[in-house]
Amino acid sequence: MAVITLINENKTIEVPIGANLRQALRFNKISPYKGISKILNCRGEGLCGTCRVEVIDGKGVSSRKEDEENILISSLPFYARKIEKNIRLTCQTNVTGDVSVKTFPIVEIDKIETKRLLIKSGIVALFTFIFGGTFLVMFLDMIKWI
Ligand code: FES
Repeated sequence: MAVITLINENKTIEVPIGANLRQALRFNKISPYKGISKILNCRGEGLCGTCRVEVIDGKGVSSRKEDEENILISSLPFYARKIEKNIRLTCQTNVTGDVSVKTFPIVEIDKIETKRLLIKSGIVALFTFIFGGTFLVMFLDMIKWI
């Protein structure tokens, strides 16, 4: 068994080694979600990035994988977050030993990367609009709609 110390909740819970952190928290009626993400989340599929916690000393949990890191940085194509090494998605983290966890960590937006992604998304949207519109007009002309 491993002990999870929840700093914000001032609580400790005991879980089996290898337990999924999200399931362990929810089983003990502790939500890793805040605000609207309590309803709008991916239910542990590792896609939404809303179940973030801070693992205080970075020990007692499985290592962070590349997919998890990508979702932590950005779950949408037009913004990016600054993510420290000890920020984890509870749904992608297994408990390997005693661990201290802080729910609802403060995460900042990476302004430079967000600006780059916004420009990239804008260019893609513009090309989609131009070429999509052209093909739509051609298609409507072909079927003699216009
Ligand atoms: S619940 Fe969506 S990423 Fe963990």
